[in-house]
Amino acid sequence: MPKLDVQGICKSFERDRTQHEILKNLSLSVLPGEFVSIIGPSGSGKSTLLQLIGGLHQPDGGSIRMDGADVTGRKGLISYMPQQPALFPWYTLEQNVLLALDITESNAKPRGSGARPSRAASREERRELAKSWLARAGLGGYEDAYPHVLSGGMQQRASFLRAMLSPQELICLDEPFGALDALTRLQMQQWLLSLWEEHRRSVLLVTHSIEEAIYLSDRIYVLSNAPAQTIAEFEVPFPRPRLESILDSETFMRMKRDIYQLLQSAGGMHV
Ligand SMILES: Nc1ncnc2c1ncn2[C@@H]1O[C@H](COP(=O)(O)OP(=O)(O)O)[C@@H](O)[C@H]1O
Ligand SMILES: [Mg+2]
Repeated sequence: MPKLDVQGICKSFERDRTQHEILKNLSLSVLPGEFVSIIGPSGSGKSTLLQLIGGLHQPDGGSIRMDGADVTGRKGLISYMPQQPALFPWYTLEQNVLLALDITESNAKPRGSGARPSRAASREERRELAKSWLARAGLGGYEDAYPHVLSGGMQQRASFLRAMLSPQELICLDEPFGALDALTRLQMQQWLLSLWEEHRRSVLLVTHSIEEAIYLSDRIYVLSNAPAQTIAEFEVPFPRPRLESILDSETFMRMKRDIYQLLQSAGGMHV
């Protein structure tokens, strides 16, 4: 049974008193422990799709199922990293990361009077954990900083960290590395891969980088221009753990060219 099953989703938005069709009968699925990417032209409706999966909008038609249950329009079931970093501006970086860990904790343990001392004791441990995660994301020394003093790339890394530390089994990431320079981007991709290879949660990643999609994924959906439909699906044949050397392989180049041509014929794309 798929972890996530999106069936025949339709969504229109009103602009200038006309309905604009954004998603048209779009279907896709993510299996348990699978890493799936969505690639499509800018403005094709990728962020809208993730917002629908996260229950932030209601679709006009179609259904979203998780583990077989209809969850269309329900919030809180996925770990979601939106395209714009979503950190609480009045919390420090450490507090922002702790929030994800606190959710993990309260989900993992039943609430009750007896739980209090152990929660208090593990609070210190969680602070240490948050600190070490921040250091791994290259944010050591910024624990007490507020989001507004950080660069866009640093905010994006902190926001990514929060999504990765949230407890939900399906993680939806919307262009998580878009604001990062090439080197940091590759480091974050490798970090995401190593975390994912350890824990094997289901991931749905939106990206406009063809290389990123091939390097990270088991499967890739290519979307058309709006109204978005899936126009192709690729299985990525490289074994895990993924080595950086695949980036130079013939198979990688060929797949990259095929996807690029598809996107070109679907209405153009700037890469
Ligand atoms: N809440 C909204 N109200 C009206 N139009 C929207 C809304 N959200 C997105 N759109 C429109 O839907 C289209 C797809 O947007 P989006 O999902 O952000 O695309 P992508 O993430 O693929 O770049 C755009 O034309 C955008 O203007
Ligand atoms: Mg988007």
